[in-house]
Amino acid sequence: MNPLELARAHPEAPFTVRFDGREIEALPGRTIAAVLWSAGITAWRGTRGEGQPRGVFCGIGVCFDCLVTVNDRPNQRACLTPATPGADIRTQEGTGHDD
Ligand code: FES
Repeated sequence: MNPLELARAHPEAPFTVRFDGREIEALPGRTIAAVLWSAGITAWRGTRGEGQPRGVFCGIGVCFDCLVTVNDRPNQRACLTPATPGADIRTQEGTGHDD
């Protein structure tokens, strides 16, 4: 069953964001992590040094595993940052500062 029907939710119209150049549909009120998950994307950061994939771990803004670059600003926590129409979201490598 559709989770929106289960919750009897009536969200506003969807909008699009871009993730690494790919257009993804987002519902208002969702965090970037929720939008990426709903598109089947579970990793969007590479760790410093080894480049190991990371995504959501705690989901509440504590662990910093979910860092992502949004509109050229690195180190945004995807689990806390709301998705906004037209946001340009990119996978973050290392510190996100080209070092
Ligand atoms: S998942 Fe832990 S800070 Fe976002």
